[in-house]
Amino acid sequence: MNAALPVAVLKQHLIDPEICIRCNTCEETCPIDAITHDSNNYVVDPDICNGCMACVPPCPTGSIDNWRLVARSDAYSVQEQLGWDELPREQPLPDALAAVEPAADAAIDPAPAAQASVTPGASVPPWSAAHPYVNLYTHKTPVTATVVGNYRVTGADTDSDIHHIVLDFGELPFPVLEGQSIGILPPGTDAQGRPHHARQYSLASPRDGERAGYNNLSLTVKRVIEDHQGQPVSGVCSNYLCDLARNDTVQVIGPFGHTFLMPNHPGANLIMICTGTGSAPMRAMTERYRRRIETGENGRLMLFFGARTERELPYFGPLMKLPRDFIDINLALSREAGQPKRYVQDLIRERAADVRGLLADRNTCIYVCGLKGMEVGVLDALRDVTVQAGQDWTILHDVLRREGRLHFETY
Ligand code: A2P
Repeated sequence: MNAALPVAVLKQHLIDPEICIRCNTCEETCPIDAITHDSNNYVVDPDICNGCMACVPPCPTGSIDNWRLVARSDAYSVQEQLGWDELPREQPLPDALAAVEPAADAAIDPAPAAQASVTPGASVPPWSAAHPYVNLYTHKTPVTATVVGNYRVTGADTDSDIHHIVLDFGELPFPVLEGQSIGILPPGTDAQGRPHHARQYSLASPRDGERAGYNNLSLTVKRVIEDHQGQPVSGVCSNYLCDLARNDTVQVIGPFGHTFLMPNHPGANLIMICTGTGSAPMRAMTERYRRRIETGENGRLMLFFGARTERELPYFGPLMKLPRDFIDINLALSREAGQPKRYVQDLIRERAADVRGLLADRNTCIYVCGLKGMEVGVLDALRDVTVQAGQDWTILHDVLRREGRLHFETY
């Protein structure tokens, strides 16, 4: 057990700016808003953080798990941390503090994560998930990949310019699992002249490669031309990626992610719920299942996929060619002419009996990826289908989280 610290000493929680991929997971997870960011860094406010650890398990890189013993009066301020390019070295405590007897009531050792977890999804993978590699390549040691494919996967007549981009790693190891992500370092510098930070993209291909047996992987990238408010902006990394040609090279870091992973045991069912480019991990998992269709070990696949129209739904053609007895596809189209507006959560309610059947099976894992806004809607829909059958959603939700069977990745 760790000894309690003197009141004047703080075990300060810090984020390593060299490893952090600015995915916002920690800020979303923190139950007391102790984490903030600017265009440079994500940082922890020492005046607010209580060391509850809720943010630590969800962090895909582990950059969040850094601590320094400092004199409380000398804690690194938010402003200081925002300016960092790397973590400061551990400094010895002033003699006066190092000599002070620990105060029993001043313990600030992190509380167990389970006590403080507020995320809607699990912070552990399913029991049968394969063990992932993470952080093999960092900002300081990126790996070079070569573009071997770049295709548009939405209708050419739509504003939604989504690309399927295939990267090859040649002889260099880049082992991945479905549900993991990688970071891309766009070339050039930001307005302050600093190199751009990495942007995170989920894999769209399964563990054995976009092309089975090859050392390559794919990404699903939407060209960003406006911000969330509809104001015109040009996404630095998405435009760079969508404009790449065959044989161009790209700087890659990662892989990342140790919880949004698929189960490996025979008979596991997947409920996949996504919008737009959130389909990437669903494509990866579906393709993993498709490649072993003959083995007979697959459980059921149920997909809820939201897009504005069929032509704006990435991979619409290949998806619709999959056999109906292999995957149960439910498309929620919100702006299709002559059809009522539908979201994925509407279809979950419409398919309540089948969803409930799968939820009742402990071999079922649920994956949600896409727009942040759908998180609440999907949870409400899952609660409704459970409650309709006289079951207690709070208990089921807790079980799904503890067993690593409910996963969210939203942005
Ligand atoms: P909408 O037409 O209302 O924007 P996008 O194309 O912007 O990536 O969105 C993908 C799909 O997700 C669209 O059909 C969009 O509908 C839908 N969507 C938007 N907000 C939500 C939400 N809160 N819950 C579920 N789906 C949503």
